Amino acid sequence: KHSDGQTRITFPLMLSVGTAVIGSLQFGYNTGVINAPQKIIEKFINETYFERYQEPISKTTLTAIWSVAVSIFSVGGIVGSFSVGLFVNRFGRRNSMLMANVLAFIAAALMGFSKIAHSWEMLIVGRFVVGLYSGLSTGFVPMYVGEISPTALRGALGTFHQLGIVVGILIAQVFGMEAIMGNDDLWPLLLGFIFILALIQCILLPLCPKSPRFLLINRNEENKAKAVLKKLRGTTDVSSDMQEMKEESRQMMREKKVTIPELFRSHLYRQPLLIAVVLQLSQQLSGINAVFYYSTRIFEKAGVEQPVYATIGAGVVNTAFTVVSLFIVERAGRRSLHMLGLLGMAVSAVLMTIAMALLDQLKWMSYLSIVAIFAFVAFFELGPGPIPWFIVAELFSQGPRPSAFAVAGFSNWTANFIVGMTFQYVEELCGPYVFIIFTVLLLFFLVFTYFKVPETKGRTFDEITAGFRQTAATGGEKNSPEELNSLGADSPL
Ligand code: GLC
Repeated sequence: KHSDGQTRITFPLMLSVGTAVIGSLQFGYNTGVINAPQKIIEKFINETYFERYQEPISKTTLTAIWSVAVSIFSVGGIVGSFSVGLFVNRFGRRNSMLMANVLAFIAAALMGFSKIAHSWEMLIVGRFVVGLYSGLSTGFVPMYVGEISPTALRGALGTFHQLGIVVGILIAQVFGMEAIMGNDDLWPLLLGFIFILALIQCILLPLCPKSPRFLLINRNEENKAKAVLKKLRGTTDVSSDMQEMKEESRQMMREKKVTIPELFRSHLYRQPLLIAVVLQLSQQLSGINAVFYYSTRIFEKAGVEQPVYATIGAGVVNTAFTVVSLFIVERAGRRSLHMLGLLGMAVSAVLMTIAMALLDQLKWMSYLSIVAIFAFVAFFELGPGPIPWFIVAELFSQGPRPSAFAVAGFSNWTANFIVGMTFQYVEELCGPYVFIIFTVLLLFFLVFTYFKVPETKGRTFDEITAGFRQTAATGGEKNSPEELNSLGADSPL
């Protein structure tokens, strides 16, 4: 069905994906970086406070400053992700990514010089600004990658966004060790390191092509779009790609640019929007960041002797299974991998609870808890980690896509913020049973996916949206995933 350019992994394609996901790497790095050096940076805040006010800081003030510094990152993420629509249609996908680096440079400077300047305020503002950058990235990157990828590789290449994130987390965990940069002298460098990543992205982005869909559908520059496609696909015959984009473009005449309020009002988008948002929630409310923000603490409570190494172990498992997902997602499909992941996480969460509850009676339960947490992370990366990010591009056509990314990103980051803020308190209330809450949520998301999420593997954007259009036309009566699939595949449009 697909011409050979549809499965060829060319150098320009990999360069573009690789450069874009530096944005994902930044997101992951800043997610993970604040975990290990907590004590050291708190010491700096303490000393600075003493210099200013000639008295030691109180425990509550210190905790408050620290919590703000940690969580303001997600507040930046909420604002940033919600703003993607302001940029992508005006400046294009690639140039939006390029411009966002201004934020990364500012954040690097603020955080990197906060120690010299004796200012924890700079640290906090820097965390906010890099949150803005990361929020924008969670829209820009999957959108750009989705739009340049051939249909048959869209899931695998889309998973590179998540791969960037998890590698970023892992690098941050390793760099944050005391022997490397997690110490009194070097922590400003640890936080300022994002400068280098931003610089590399700024050098490479101009070498990457603009999104062909943006060129053709938004700008109507057919020849440029064709030239870009030839480069990306490594073949001169790009007619099937061009034809599909033109079809989408024709549909666009009717949809034009869809604003966020329009997205909510139109019954055409109800189904895909619900799916996109619930999948984001399934990613965050699975509890994954309870592990990534607080793993060291969780391992400590579970009686693990070297919690820092266990945390890095979790980072390694996390990365390994994202790679596994990358290789199987085009064969197994999104829907089944997502369900498998959610189910596996639910089982792991139960195991984790048993291990924590029985720890006092049986010492070896601490090993079970390590196994359970690693399994939890592994199943997460099979589906719930990568799939929600890239499926948004697949569920919407060019017109509503930017607004859909804004709403999806907003949901994701808000849920992320809520889990990050409340986990410690809820844990105090529920003790070892805290993960039961996530188990219940996971099972709910499993049921939702089974009944509502269609398979998007191997189908063009146009085929997928045609499926939803017809569902909407039948008044939402035909909306089981099987029907959506069959509708899209031989759409008469
Ligand atoms: C996903 C989540 C992110 C999480 C990461 C863990 O990308 O969006 O919040 O930290 O996975 O691998």
